[in-house]
Amino acid sequence: MRLPEPYRIKVVEPIRLLPREEREKRLEAAGLNVFALKAEDVFIDLLTDSGTNAMSDNQWSGIMIGDESYAGSRSFYHLEAAVKEVFEYNYVVPTHQGRGAENTLFSILIKPGQYVMGNMHFDTTEAHIRLKKGIPINLVVDDAFDTSKYHPFKGNVDLGKLERFIAEKKPENIAFMLITITCNSAGGQPVSMENIREVSRICRKNNIPVYIDAARFAENAYFIKAREKDYADKTIAEIVKEMFSYADGFTMSAKKDALVNIGGMIGIKDDESLYNRAREVNITYEGFPTYGGLAGRDLEAVARGLKEVLDVDYLRARIGQVEYLGKLLSDAGIPIQTPVGGHAVFVDAGKFLPHIEAEEFPGEALAVELYLESGVRAVEVGTCMMGRDAEGKNIIAPMELLRLTIPRRVYTDNHMGYVAKSLIDIYGKRETVRGLKFTYEPPILRHFLARFERV
Ligand code: F0G
Repeated sequence: MRLPEPYRIKVVEPIRLLPREEREKRLEAAGLNVFALKAEDVFIDLLTDSGTNAMSDNQWSGIMIGDESYAGSRSFYHLEAAVKEVFEYNYVVPTHQGRGAENTLFSILIKPGQYVMGNMHFDTTEAHIRLKKGIPINLVVDDAFDTSKYHPFKGNVDLGKLERFIAEKKPENIAFMLITITCNSAGGQPVSMENIREVSRICRKNNIPVYIDAARFAENAYFIKAREKDYADKTIAEIVKEMFSYADGFTMSAKKDALVNIGGMIGIKDDESLYNRAREVNITYEGFPTYGGLAGRDLEAVARGLKEVLDVDYLRARIGQVEYLGKLLSDAGIPIQTPVGGHAVFVDAGKFLPHIEAEEFPGEALAVELYLESGVRAVEVGTCMMGRDAEGKNIIAPMELLRLTIPRRVYTDNHMGYVAKSLIDIYGKRETVRGLKFTYEPPILRHFLARFERV
């Protein structure tokens, strides 16, 4: 049996399920786009695990003693101490969230025309690389794209692809390597220690710096402990230190594994001149280097969250809950990304709705149906999100996914059971689900503001 969560609930927030006719009206008014729904019209919100965490009593008490000084805040020094302790990095530059860290660091590191290699970049990461006139390159293992195939580390970089890419493009044309742990775009899939070590060895041999996108660093460490030879007896804290020893720095959205609602940072191992540059650039966009777009209380909550998340019992319950939802679905024959990732179950909407072609957005169609069926909100990760190429053609996604993203410490297994039952009911009548077409299509990041009708 799975051990229950190592915490109990002290504060609750009511949620409500609207009647079906109401849900139909609200979704119609939202142009069949779940992003346009009011949150209060949603029963269980699985749009994202970002900033949706429940904080602990320890973090809330930190909020009360946050130091709101503009310069030299005590809470900043608490964050700096936490980063030294958890990652063994000397320097930290706080930012308002992950994309702020990307903006600052990439402005310094990318020269126009340079490549930025990664396993699979997140969409804001990719956007910031392009804004700095860099070229994002994804080198993840091919198994990541086969949702039915088991691979313990589907977020791994394909080392053959990496070596060939460096040989072909030459190290001087490559700004840096960014390893995203866990790899969100591949389905929250982990990267093994062996892979991080080897990627680092290959890059260092070629004088290419290595960075980590650390949004879900603790969940990645848990998978290493659970699945990788030689790590079962190591603590999460030890595994985290080793992972980060192979990199030169990191960007982090603290809204995931720092267990807070807002925040981000750049971590730098020991390059003092890079740290000074990052502090300078950060002032223009994020603020003075000891607050970086955050309130002192936010810094305090992040500092505490970074340490709290290392609790193996918490991580086991957290990832166990995601696995539990995945198992309810796969036992009922519903196609999902296998194995499930750390923060979400990714339903293979392309296989779930084989009669809907990519350009009629099976992931969006399933999101619409799921909300109508149950008031549950999930998010498409597929062709709608990909947008169009230079010729105006839809970029067909490698997989049509519906992401059921689980906020940390927020929902119970009963909520998961309800979500699974709703999807299983839809699966029983899947041939009645219809594809979607645009009635309004924004030119960029279209999935957020688009409006649809049924085909
Ligand atoms: N990197 C990864 C791997 C992410 O998943 C995200 C955000 C970011 C960077 C950007 O961080 O939102 O704090 O600016 N992911 C959220 C999601 C939005 O829903 O997956 P941010």
